[in-house]
Amino acid sequence: MNVLLIGSGGREHALAWKMAASPALTKLYCAPGNPGIANVATCVALDPSDHAQVLAFCKEHSIDFVVVGPEAPLVAGIADDLRAGGLSVFGPSKAAARLEGSKGFTKDLCARFDIPTGAYQRFTQADAAKAYVRQQGAPIVVKADGLAAGKGVVVAFEIQDALDAVDACFEGVFGGAGAEVVVEEYLDGEEASFFCLCDGKIALPFGTAQDHKRVGDGDTGANTGGMGAYSPAPVMSQEIIDRTMRELIEPTMRGMAEIGAPFSGVLFAGLMITRDGPKLIEYNTRFGDPETQVLMLRLKDDLLLLLKAAADGALDQMSVRWNDDPALTVVMAAKGYPASPQKGSIIKGIDGIAADDSVEIFHAGTALKDGNLIANGGRVLNVTASGKTVQLAQNAAYAAIAKIDWPEGFYRRDIGWRAIERERG
Ligand code: AMP
Ligand code: GLY
Repeated sequence: MNVLLIGSGGREHALAWKMAASPALTKLYCAPGNPGIANVATCVALDPSDHAQVLAFCKEHSIDFVVVGPEAPLVAGIADDLRAGGLSVFGPSKAAARLEGSKGFTKDLCARFDIPTGAYQRFTQADAAKAYVRQQGAPIVVKADGLAAGKGVVVAFEIQDALDAVDACFEGVFGGAGAEVVVEEYLDGEEASFFCLCDGKIALPFGTAQDHKRVGDGDTGANTGGMGAYSPAPVMSQEIIDRTMRELIEPTMRGMAEIGAPFSGVLFAGLMITRDGPKLIEYNTRFGDPETQVLMLRLKDDLLLLLKAAADGALDQMSVRWNDDPALTVVMAAKGYPASPQKGSIIKGIDGIAADDSVEIFHAGTALKDGNLIANGGRVLNVTASGKTVQLAQNAAYAAIAKIDWPEGFYRRDIGWRAIERERG
């Protein structure tokens, strides 16, 4: 199979690394890719927002299968356009990607199909949203409806913060994404990420993880795309997984089919495990970043065949096996992330580390300049390790980081703390 992977982050490096190990793979391209991905795939300078250009490349290079990494092209309908051109694609249609592209759409789906989530209201006017905030009281959560690169959510513990968040949305801080606002109930509990491969009809559980969204140690500071993750998530017991399938995922699959937008691709449920059981915080319609990096280290089966089966509506013939050893990834970010990461600094010392079996370094935001590897984004490297315990995986990841020579980078020192505390008992 000739495969084109769309994307350029650590998630795509992990997907490329795993697909490259498939006996079913003939040639792997990645657009646009990054210097780490270039070690396992041929990177091509395509613009994922130019669907016609991507389609033309696929025809020219006899691509059999396209895997879409990030949400923006999915929400823009790349899967529809490529399928219309005769290609097999892993990723939801534009209509199905509304599960990520519109928080209000997802909340309405939950209401209609009885899927557990926080109580909510949708607003297009600041005054009405503020009145609802005052009526509900704090803590309360304010969300821009559309895609805001993970920045459109304010968890407000004071009413004033929620009112300010409403104003920020309607003042256009998140552009079009904030033209509508969802105000929702604050959910208390432990968060977890749950993944399912979906083929329009069936959802196949595809692993659990927990990430660390805050920039600072002890889960403090600004929200980020994720500073590290580990898998599995201890809170996701088999009982909770079964409940999540029955109460959230299966009704979502049925509901999406019923409204004429069957979901295929990966459904990433951001969950709050509350005292009353799992509740939906949000859906994403793509793999998590950096959760994918840890999932790929644990996956025993052939990723390419699994993704192809999802695209072909053939998941009923597939099963998934995981390595029992936990995996953990530490994100190394450029100083200034998330507000204003400094780009361009030189990173040294990572070549020797890749030779170690239990450690993989995925590139998230790197570039090559004058023969040097440089930082080219906020999240730059994902140092990923497995071990018999989360503690051992953490030790291995931090030991690898100690060999990396990059003074302009930083990372959290406590990735996995919650799971490690559990291991200590
Ligand atoms: P999101 O971008 O929707 O993943 O939200 C970012 C973070 O905000 C989540 O990871 C949660 O920690 C938090 N969050 C979002 N919605 C809620 C909620 N209803 N209750 C509590 N925390 C929430
Ligand atoms: N790490 C969270 C996300 O990918 O949305």
